[in-house]
Formats: sequence, structure tokens, C-alpha cells
Amino acid sequence: MISLIAAVSEDMEIGLNGKIPWNIPEETASFKKLTFGHTVIMGRKTFEETGILGGRRNMVISKSLPKRDGIEVYCSLAAAIAAAKAEKEVFIIGGASIFLQALGIADRMYLSYVKGHYGGDAFFPEFDTTEWHRVKSEAHGRFTLVIYDRKKK
Ligand SMILES: NC(=O)c1ccc[n+]([C@@H]2O[C@H](COP(=O)([O-])OP(=O)(O)OC[C@H]3O[C@@H](n4cnc5c(N)ncnc54)[C@H](OP(=O)(O)O)[C@@H]3O)[C@@H](O)[C@H]2O)c1
Repeated sequence: MISLIAAVSEDMEIGLNGKIPWNIPEETASFKKLTFGHTVIMGRKTFEETGILGGRRNMVISKSLPKRDGIEVYCSLAAAIAAAKAEKEVFIIGGASIFLQALGIADRMYLSYVKGHYGGDAFFPEFDTTEWHRVKSEAHGRFTLVIYDRKKK
């Protein structure tokens, strides 16, 4: 299963100046709980911001990043997904360019809807809500976690 996981503002912003424009420890903990023990796939810019995520298999999509300990570098999203084929669930964790490429092949989305407007410059791609089942919605203090599964055709 291919899952996207993102925190989005009321305007679907996900980033500003290369960073996530809010700091919500409870949301960070939710992200960790969901992804821990799994494979995560991210773009090079997101990797440069977050570093290696402990307790997870880290895959980075890049044409420029040299190999280094603790990460696997792939030259395309398709190559990373092929390498993670044996995994039960693989998490695509951003950023904007990777979400855009992965939206069409995702089976599930975990979206944390964060309250507020942040003047962001990176966005989660628009998606057609009629193609997705909203299977869970969990209200937390400053965000609501919504899980969507793609409808079967
Ligand atoms: N709110 C959230 O949940 C969340 C999550 C993650 C990130 N973010 C935010 O998103 C923003 C970053 O997003 P972004 O779109 O600028 O960067 P990004 O997607 O993290 O990384 C872009 C880089 O990934 C590589 N890449 C992407 N597609 C590729 C392909 N098809 N083949 C080979 N390499 C590919 C390229 O690296 P090379 O140039 O090295 O080839 C490209 O420059 C930041 O503001 C970050 O904080 C938010």
C-alpha cells in the first residue's frame, strides 16, 4: 500500500521557505507514531530539512544527492517504490513535488488539517474528493487527522 502523509493548513499550504510553517509537537508525534517502523520516501529538499528519520527506512529521491549512510537515494519516485515493493505500507512524506507525483498512485492519505493561514509557498496538490472515502477523522487540539482511502473502481 502506498500512503501519503502530510500536514496541511486551511489553504493547503505545507511549507514556507523550505520549512514547515508551524510547530505542533502533538502533530509531529502523530506523524512519528504512524510512520515508525515503516519505509518513508521523501524529496531531497525535505530530506535536507528533516535529516534521517530514526526507526524508519529512509528513501530519498534525488538526481544530485551522493550516497551516504542511513539513506537510500533513488533517481525517481518509481525506482524508490519498486525497491519498497515488499513493504506492507510505504509512506510518502513530501515535499510538494513528491506529493504531486505520488497523488495518482496513492492508495491512502493521512492528512493533518492544521488550523490557520501561513502565507506558504509549497502546497499539497488539489485532489478530487469524490475519488476518496473519508474513513476516519480524529480531532486533536490544533489539528484534525483525516484518513482517506481511494475508492475502488
Ligand atoms: N507539511 C508537510 O507535511 C510537509 C512534508 C514534507 C515537506 N514539506 C515542505 O515542502 C517543502 C519542500 O517541497 P519541495 O517540492 O520544494 O521539495 P521536495 O519535494 O522535498 O524535494 C525536491 C527535490 O526532490 C528531487 N526530486 C523530485 N522529483 C524527482 C524526480 N522525479 N526524479 C528525481 N529527483 C526528484 C529533486 O532533487 P535534486 O534536485 O537533488 O535532484 C528535487 O529538487 C518545504 O517547505 C518542506 O518544509 C511539508
